[in-house]
Amino acid sequence: ESTRLWGGRFAEGPSPQMVALSLSVHFDWRLAPYDLQGSRAHARVLHAAGLLDDDELQAMLDGLDQLEADVRSGKFTGTEADEDVHTALERGLIERLGTLGGKLRAGRSRNDQVATDLRLYLRDHVRTIVGLLIDLQEALVGKAEEYADVVAPGMTHLQHAQPVLFSHQLLAHVHAFARDVDRLRDWDRRAAVSPLGAGALAGSSLALDPAAVAADLGFDRPADNSIDAVSDRDYVAEFLFAAALIGVHLSRIGEEVVLWNTTEFGWVTLHDSWATGSSIMPQKKNPDIAELARGKSGRFVGNLMSLLTTLKALPLAYDRDLQEDKEGTFDSVEQLELLLPAVAGMIATMTVNAERVSSGAATGHALATDIAEWLVREGVPFREAHEISGAAVQEADRRGVELYDLSADDLAAVDARLRPEVLDVLTVDGALGARTTHGGTAPSQVAAQRNGLRAAIADQ
Ligand code: ARG
Repeated sequence: ESTRLWGGRFAEGPSPQMVALSLSVHFDWRLAPYDLQGSRAHARVLHAAGLLDDDELQAMLDGLDQLEADVRSGKFTGTEADEDVHTALERGLIERLGTLGGKLRAGRSRNDQVATDLRLYLRDHVRTIVGLLIDLQEALVGKAEEYADVVAPGMTHLQHAQPVLFSHQLLAHVHAFARDVDRLRDWDRRAAVSPLGAGALAGSSLALDPAAVAADLGFDRPADNSIDAVSDRDYVAEFLFAAALIGVHLSRIGEEVVLWNTTEFGWVTLHDSWATGSSIMPQKKNPDIAELARGKSGRFVGNLMSLLTTLKALPLAYDRDLQEDKEGTFDSVEQLELLLPAVAGMIATMTVNAERVSSGAATGHALATDIAEWLVREGVPFREAHEISGAAVQEADRRGVELYDLSADDLAAVDARLRPEVLDVLTVDGALGARTTHGGTAPSQVAAQRNGLRAAIADQ
């Protein structure tokens, strides 16, 4: 027996195919706690409007409490006969309260109800996701502290470029996740608008108080336009963008860990508890968390594209198309809530093989820029300095040695302007120590950056 909310004008029941297509309770059940929260606020506003007396309000709130307890314990769930979570919960209320349960729908449509539920759901989960992003930043800063002085070959094009502190590279990822937190906090400001009171699209002839409902539900204010209130899904699209970018950030650090963990790099060793084995090759220890971090970026981006495509050219106000806003959103939320703690744990427990990382820091002629900049300080135009340093690289290559293996005489033979003092900058420590610009890789700068991040994370 169906519990449809809209049977009155229909002479015939719905076809099974239409019911199957229309059904959303199997996924929008996630909204149940938020729907109940909205129902309590709505009951109070009906009472304030004189549409429920004191006893009715109390019975209604008790019924909603009971229903909530039964939802939490699993004693009450939506079924296939319920079109969606809103239908199911109204059935649950009527089962508990009889006809009184039918009074709650006054002045409320599923259109403003679902928009409210989804905002409540997202604002709640975004708080969780922000907490997880903070944990991940702490794991990265912790690793950067643990290996503060390890020198590494900094890369561009995945080629040795200039020496950097390995911790500088770890902290680079922290900045990305800090921006993600900032973005979500900023998102929350715009998401804190309550659609309830808009009804189907036009507002209500009943004496509702949208501002009171908004305050009751923790929103900053009620929507100023009832059509926008039920049509707007910007808050979902913006969230999905923020989630996609977090996914992309996770994929970039994921790829680096995969690379660092290869036998060829050998820079990091993952903790056994945060790696997986092979079903056939007994020796294998695979970086599956890092690979899943890389791989899942596809669905985060896909969920954003999917919603934008649904919204494109969708006429105002509510259209059933909008039901398609939910599955991708739940997916992005749930995947982030799985992925972030796993990546944080993998980072927090990995060992950095310091000797291996630093052994190649200056190889590949990674100090060539230091020669050029030394010449610039000697008054040589950079254009010539670049040529001279390049000639020294050629000379080293010709001999099959590194730049730092060339003697003062060798260098002078390349160009007379390469006086013996140039040897002072041909060391990793010299190269690192000299990069003292704000945000540079000099140990003093990196330490200041780390302290700054620590303080910023504490403020998040
Ligand atoms: N389940 C719908 C959704 O997710 C809400 C129901 C609105 N249905 C309607 N016929 N107005 O968007």
